[in-house]
Amino acid sequence: MRKKIVAGNWKMNMTTAEATALVNALKEDLANFRDVEVVLCPPFTALATVSELVHDTHLDLGAQNMHWAKNGAYTGEISAGMLRELYCHYVILGHSERRQYFGETDAIVNRKTQAALASSLHPIVCVGETLQEREAGKVEEVITTQVQGSLAGLSAKELLDSVIAYEPVWAIGTGKTATSDQAQEVHALIRQILTKAYDATVAQGVRIQYGGSVKPSNAKELFSMPDIDGGLIGGAALDAKSFIDIVRAAV
Ligand code: 13P
Repeated sequence: MRKKIVAGNWKMNMTTAEATALVNALKEDLANFRDVEVVLCPPFTALATVSELVHDTHLDLGAQNMHWAKNGAYTGEISAGMLRELYCHYVILGHSERRQYFGETDAIVNRKTQAALASSLHPIVCVGETLQEREAGKVEEVITTQVQGSLAGLSAKELLDSVIAYEPVWAIGTGKTATSDQAQEVHALIRQILTKAYDATVAQGVRIQYGGSVKPSNAKELFSMPDIDGGLIGGAALDAKSFIDIVRAAV
């Protein structure tokens, strides 16, 4: 049985003061909650603060990006070791906003994924097609290329230590959610790609989150689909009540 995982991707939001208020509100309800794995992914500047606030709870910590190198002359970048020092256990990699605005390719995402795993961080590797690609009938082709490229060279154990997030680009921040059937179809496709590359047991063990306009009103239906193992939540993760409702919808 795959344990559901719901992560909040705060993106470039939340000062440390705002983060403190949000985490304290989340803790009132979720501090001892174990039925679903809950991961908070604040911006780098709030990681240390959130790390302290969650250290005695069941809430887990993740970052939104990292560099593949251990250290060195990479101005503005952050390494896996730096994240581990703050007790981060997860890192989102290859988010469509990183791919779109910062030129991240599957090859870059793969280097980062390998580096994260080498430092015992669980990568949350994002894939997803644009509206144009969907309308051109290219969903299968795009997802296959992204999954194979981003996860290239991973051992079965490394794959099982990773989480995949399917985030259709057209559903991110638009209020347009994929229907649960549309999402399930792509999640099943991802599992099929992994079955071919590894085997059915490995593919059945990997957790695949859905992301893109998840709200309290649609979370339950999405999370009840057989291949959807939780969500990667953007906008709705910035509001304590919405995020708590979404987490509880995953039980
Ligand atoms: P929204 O939930 O705001 O659509 O964002 C989804 C997302 O990109 C999470 O990583």
